[in-house]
Amino acid sequence: MIGVFDSGFGGLTVLGALTERLPHHDFLYLADNARAPYGARSPEVVYQFTLEAVEWLFDQGCPLVVLACNTASARALRTIQQRHIPHHRPDRRVLGVVRPSVEALAGLPPGAIPGTTKPSLVEGLVAVLGTETTISSDSFGIELRKLAPRLRLVQQACPLWVPLVEAGELDGIGTEWFLHRYLDPLMQAVERPRRILLGCTHYPLLLAGIQRIVGSEIEILAQGGLVADRLADWLNRHPEMDARLGRQGQHNYATTDDPNWFSTSAQRLLGQKVTAKQVQLGNHEKGQWE
Ligand code: DGL
Repeated sequence: MIGVFDSGFGGLTVLGALTERLPHHDFLYLADNARAPYGARSPEVVYQFTLEAVEWLFDQGCPLVVLACNTASARALRTIQQRHIPHHRPDRRVLGVVRPSVEALAGLPPGAIPGTTKPSLVEGLVAVLGTETTISSDSFGIELRKLAPRLRLVQQACPLWVPLVEAGELDGIGTEWFLHRYLDPLMQAVERPRRILLGCTHYPLLLAGIQRIVGSEIEILAQGGLVADRLADWLNRHPEMDARLGRQGQHNYATTDDPNWFSTSAQRLLGQKVTAKQVQLGNHEKGQWE
């Protein structure tokens, strides 16, 4: 299975795109709902929780794990890739969402080799919206400076959007007020961004309201489609990994909180039947997913 990890429900926006793009592959989605949101937690805690989630997915037999969560990608991916995997899991791979998102923000097509293919957007202003932890990591800025150094980036933390989504408050005047609170500084600035990346898995669920406020002239990038396209491309370039992945079109779900509550909410978001299992991270029993 391809393991897909998020702190909560938001990653289902990425999973939906992944299963559409790779309909024959098997997936195991893990949501750490019991400890979500991650967005205001310290980098050390985000790293520890993410490592536990990744290890759990490895133990279930996932050779490849996608960190759908931006906060986890921003704060834990590099250390897991560079320090943990080589010493403890040399045959496994973990991928994140920051790099593919930045490629899309700069207009690089999937599979493009930076330095060889020119980004379609080389100058001007773009924006990233994310959780406090993601924005303070400057992960998007670091990657963008490598790929398109003349493209300027404005980053906006939107700390109250995740709690609104987790509470199912996707529209209404209260939500509208909080959309304005974080979008108005971008829209009232002398220079408006040409593209806005929703750098948090939960934000696509607020897309209709965001689009209404920013208007149709500014392009809004949601991560699901772009991550799915880039993962499909990555698998084409890594056939040895692709050959290890199951292809029965199975979608499995695990949560660290109440599985009935998770299943009901996930079903509403995905529009398909979900039966989740409850799992414990950190000190879990070893054993394969059945
Ligand atoms: N899923 C996280 C992300 O994409 C946000 C939710 C949280 O704060 O846990 O950044």
